[in-house]
Amino acid sequence: MGNPIQTQVRTIDAERPQPGIIAQAAAAIRAGGLVAFPTETVYGLGANALDADAIGKIYSAKGRPSNNPLIAHIGSLEQLAQVAIDIPQSAYELAGYFWPGPLTLVLPRHERVPAAASAGRDTVAVRFPAHPVAQALIMAAGVPIVAPSANRFTRPSATTAQHVLADLNGRVNLILDGGPTQIGVESTVLDLTAPTPIVLRPGGVTLEALRAVLPDVLAPAQHVPMDDADAKPASPGMLIKHYSPNAEVLLFDGEAEAVIRRMRETAIQRTKDGQKVGILVTNEDYKAFKDVPVIAQTLGSAHDLAHIAQQLFAGLRALDAQQVDVILARQFPAEGMGRAIADRLLRAAEGRVIGVE
Ligand code: TXA
Ligand code: MG
Repeated sequence: MGNPIQTQVRTIDAERPQPGIIAQAAAAIRAGGLVAFPTETVYGLGANALDADAIGKIYSAKGRPSNNPLIAHIGSLEQLAQVAIDIPQSAYELAGYFWPGPLTLVLPRHERVPAAASAGRDTVAVRFPAHPVAQALIMAAGVPIVAPSANRFTRPSATTAQHVLADLNGRVNLILDGGPTQIGVESTVLDLTAPTPIVLRPGGVTLEALRAVLPDVLAPAQHVPMDDADAKPASPGMLIKHYSPNAEVLLFDGEAEAVIRRMRETAIQRTKDGQKVGILVTNEDYKAFKDVPVIAQTLGSAHDLAHIAQQLFAGLRALDAQQVDVILARQFPAEGMGRAIADRLLRAAEGRVIGVE
């Protein structure tokens, strides 16, 4: 990147965003700058969706490959027709249930949205976020805002302004600090341009909830490994190496008791080998590690998947900050919110799962 930017952080009221702060952020967006802001899922790194130069800055700030398209965020349902064309009835039906909220719809792209926003595709991903700061910013800017998650490429997404600053200091003009985000994993991406609607990324709206509205919705396809040069994922963001902490992540799956036994053995062995071992576990699982020399990050009760989703990326980043060499985690069942959690853990582990008999 060229000249470093002076990054300013401003605290903002998440419920009633102060108009003066919103006006400053909106002016920065209109001037072609980058503003990181909270949404109900994760923090976004925003730019004017109609400005190809500003969009280019997002890719360089994130270090993101230019073939990975962005989500255009709208501040009202009326703005949908400004970014997409040939909008099917199903989009309005889904919007009625899930917007504003953590659902992203892939639709045919309106020509006024630069191709750069969609990495050259003729589709565009659109989301109407529920967070008051996001809505106020989009409306004040008067333009849709493209915003990927506000993390450096392949790093865990940012769920606090501190995470954004750690990754993007000197690369973003302004960070609006509205506190920790509520959902903690990104939006569900649903492709409505496919012959049958298909989930490209599980997220804040569960597959079960989508199927209650559109019964035919297809589950996300198998992940495409990053080193598979021939594979062409429908959504380039489905690359398997994603959300990776610096530490190696070992993801264990199988019957609970056997998995925990194996995790304990692995933790003890790795410690003997001189490694600093971290575990990312539920409160219930943590009890089995009290006598093992590990750095533990608990995610909350296994019965509260929403809370676990909210803590997930922060937990990975916290273990990284303590410079562990390896992170041990147990896989979650892919049902309800568990599907998004399992997906993010699988990517953090770069697609490798240790099956325990
Ligand atoms: O919750 C979220 O969606 C957050 C907040 C900030 O809104 N944003 C976010 O953006 O996660 P990003 O760029 O990190 O992820 C966007 C995902 C990627 O998997 C990308 O490949 C997919 O959406 N995507 C975007 N445009 C697409 C398109 N036209 N066709 C297929 N997939 C698309
Ligand atoms: Mg992302």
